[in-house]
Amino acid sequence: MNWAVVGVGNIANVFMKAIQHIPDVKVLAAYGRNREKLDAFCDKWNIKERYTDYEQLYKQSSVSVIYLATPHIVHFEHTMSALEHGKHVLCEKPMAMSFEETEALVYAARKNKVFLMEAMWTRFFPINKWLMEFIRSEEFGKPVNVNADFSFEYPYDKDYRFFRRDLGGGCMRSAGIYPLAYACMVFGCLPDEIKAIAQMKNEVDLRTAALFRFPKDCTAEIYTGFQGESQCMANIAFEKGTVVIPEFIHPDTAIIKPCGGEEKRISLLYEEPGLQFEIEHAEDCIRMGKKESPIMPLNESIGIARAIDLVYEQVRG
Ligand SMILES: NC(=O)c1ccc[n+]([C@@H]2O[C@H](COP(=O)([O-])OP(=O)(O)OC[C@H]3O[C@@H](n4cnc5c(N)ncnc54)[C@H](OP(=O)(O)O)[C@@H]3O)[C@@H](O)[C@H]2O)c1
Repeated sequence: MNWAVVGVGNIANVFMKAIQHIPDVKVLAAYGRNREKLDAFCDKWNIKERYTDYEQLYKQSSVSVIYLATPHIVHFEHTMSALEHGKHVLCEKPMAMSFEETEALVYAARKNKVFLMEAMWTRFFPINKWLMEFIRSEEFGKPVNVNADFSFEYPYDKDYRFFRRDLGGGCMRSAGIYPLAYACMVFGCLPDEIKAIAQMKNEVDLRTAALFRFPKDCTAEIYTGFQGESQCMANIAFEKGTVVIPEFIHPDTAIIKPCGGEEKRISLLYEEPGLQFEIEHAEDCIRMGKKESPIMPLNESIGIARAIDLVYEQVRG
């Protein structure tokens, strides 16, 4: 299938590395707002069609799928336009800046009968497939609590997008989306009660801790931040045991322990960078004529966006 990359920064380069594992994926076009950076990216990855206007790309290029890799503040306009031009879209997380924007994108994808998926790469690693089968087996009973963290030290820079509200800054939407989406995956539903606190600077959360109640008495504790490294661990408490997923964002291992029993380690290794699994999944869905992913469904993206909005309502006061 023929793809275009919109945005030529960090994650776009990871995407290009990942597709070296997938012979069917061809990137024919790219958009970048800066001509020099666009040319450097396209020269590096041997991409012929180059656009500094994304609408021109959507109008002129024959590609059928867009990988949307610009910062989230512009995901809505870049994705909406792609959908309106009949392109399928794999959109980096978070899909948009609010519940309303996310819902509007989902509506546009359905109206235009094209595929849309939030690029929650975590869900597509082999060990997560194993985890979901393990949960379905009920070997340890039902999962009741998820405790997950994703925090890294990023030196404060008042001009960088992480720290500017007008550029979509804040750790909950950028990084906290991972542990929240992980809890939603484990429980197979969305939270219905939220309590959050945050360390704020210039209206942007530098560290956020939040508690979530899920249906059927399930709970989650999420910690995220741009200040201070955390282990990036998902601890899942089951009725009859525990499962720990180290590096749960891009995992290859599960450590399982039944109550009172022996610990066991399961590893399903993968080749770096790991984005290839979500890309292959998106291609498979599109080939089969699906308009959304069963693993990262659109209603879940809408629900996660709503939960993040509620966190921000609480921490901004
Ligand atoms: N899945 C993952 O693990 C992962 C990892 C990192 C990021 N992400 C997500 O991917 C997205 C991009 O992150 P990144 O780290 O790749 O960012 P990045 O390195 O800053 O690259 C963003 C690209 O978009 C361009 N851009 C920035 N602002 C723009 C605007 N207003 N209009 C048009 N183009 C604009 C940048 O151009 P300039 O160079 O000219 O600024 C650059 O080409 C974010 O939403 C992020 O949450 C996902």
